[in-house]
This record gives sequence, C-alpha cells and structure tokens, in this order.
Amino acid sequence: MAEYKELLKLIDRTRLPQHIAIIMDGNGRWAKKHNRRRIEGHLEGAKAIRRVVRFCGEIGIKILTLFAFSTENWNRPKREIQALMNLLYKFLKEETNNLRKNNIKLVVSGQVERLPSKVRAELSSSIDGTKENSGLILNLALSYGGREEIVRACREIAKQVCNRREKFKDINEQFFNEYLYTSGLPDPDLLIRTSGEFRISNFLLWQIAYSEIYVTPVLWPDFNRRDLLLALIDYQRRERRFGRVKSG
Ligand code: IPE
Ligand code: IPE
Ligand code: MG
Repeated sequence: MAEYKELLKLIDRTRLPQHIAIIMDGNGRWAKKHNRRRIEGHLEGAKAIRRVVRFCGEIGIKILTLFAFSTENWNRPKREIQALMNLLYKFLKEETNNLRKNNIKLVVSGQVERLPSKVRAELSSSIDGTKENSGLILNLALSYGGREEIVRACREIAKQVCNRREKFKDINEQFFNEYLYTSGLPDPDLLIRTSGEFRISNFLLWQIAYSEIYVTPVLWPDFNRRDLLLALIDYQRRERRFGRVKSG
C-alpha cells in the first residue's frame, strides 16, 4: 500500500490520458495457474473490471473502453460463451446502481444484436439508467471487431450516398469517424493489453492509429490499481509526436 501511495505521487494529474482502452486478456491462464475452471477466471476478471472502473472514475479518466468480448470469441466452445453471457448479464444487473451512484455513463460498442435477448434488455436499461451521468464514460466493447466495425461503416455510408442523404465529396476521416461505434468519443490515448501478448486481436483498428501501447505480463484477474498506475507512469514518460518532429 505504501508503494501504491508513492506511485500515486508520480502521476501528473494535468496530463492524464483522456481515453484508456484495455484488452482484458488472461482470464483462462489465471484459472489454469490456480487449477480452476476457465469460467472462474472470467469471474475473477469481472472483479478486476469493478476495481479498474472505480479507480478510473476516482482519478479523473474521462473514457474507459474495455474489450470484453470479440467477434472472434463467438468461435469459443458454446459452454464458455454461455457462461460469459450469464456473467455479463449478472454484471449489468448488479452494477447499474453503482454506475448510477458513481456518475458513470455506460455505452456499448459492437454487434449488440448478436447478444442474447436478456443481456440486450439489461444492457439497454443500464445505458438508459446512466445516460444523464457526466463522469467517466464506460464503453464496453461487446461482440466487437475492428474489421466488422469498418465494413459496417462503409456499408452504411454507401447506403446513405445511394439514397442521396450524404454526398460522396463529403466523405473524409472525420465523417467516417461518425459512422463507427465509437462516434463522438476521442481516440484512445493509451491502449493497455494484459497477460503479455503483443497483438491487437482486432480491437479498435481505426481508433488506435496514434495510441500509446502498453503491454503488461499481469493476467487480467490480477490487474489492480498499482498496475494501472504503472501504465499511467509509463504513458506520461512518452513523447507523443504524431508524425511531427520534437518541439523546441
Ligand atoms: C480474456 O481472457 C477474456 C475474453 C476474451 C472473454 P481469455 O479467456 O482470453 O484468457 P486466456 O487468453 O485464455 O488466458
Ligand atoms: C482479445 O482476447 C479479446 C478480448 C480480450 C475480449 P483473445 O484472447 O480473444 O485474443 P487472442 O485469441 O489472444 O488473439
Ligand atoms: Mg485470451
């Protein structure tokens, strides 16, 4: 705890990332390491979500995007998918009140229509119940795939142009942004992946063009406030150039 307080002092509150995105990986490996079933790893992972959401709200992060279920995760065994969906349902049911109390606004990115109807219903009621909140925006990426998102945007834009509701000459990067699930949100400043894998796994392909990437070997269920502080300290040591040359 003492170390945590020391680390907290190293953070420059005026230079926090506005938007943090996390690939929450390693639940299965955590379970294996502890001789438990994969679903128990996911259960511990849900606890880590609660911790990280609370912490981000407390230190003043504006947006937190969590990769909870990818389009490719539908290819996992049926049993695991079902367990994950049940867990998601329970999480939404239990957490909505806390989100409301802590001024957190829930939004979602992904193919919501593919989720089981009881999850969809709970999701809508959480989104609706927190829509007036002005604190942290919690963006859950569910049945999310970066490629699917881009193709979906292209199809929608093509449709609008064919129907003459949009003009071909108006299509630019800013315009395109508005057709993505993340429309209205700034790009992530910091992308964290837990459990040591150096890959993107189809997450936010468009939005992470200039995100700072931080990979930690810590498995997601073990990820805590201290680990997030370490990521923030690392982020604040970097120089973001966006293709320009160093100023001064
Ligand atoms: C991340 O943990 C959670 C989801 C993808 C839903 P994993 O389930 O991928 O855990 P590992 O990668 O097998 O350890
Ligand atoms: C990425 O993790 C998806 C989520 C964290 C939801 P995966 O475990 O599915 O990715 P791979 O298979 O290691 O690339
Ligand atoms: Mg994984």
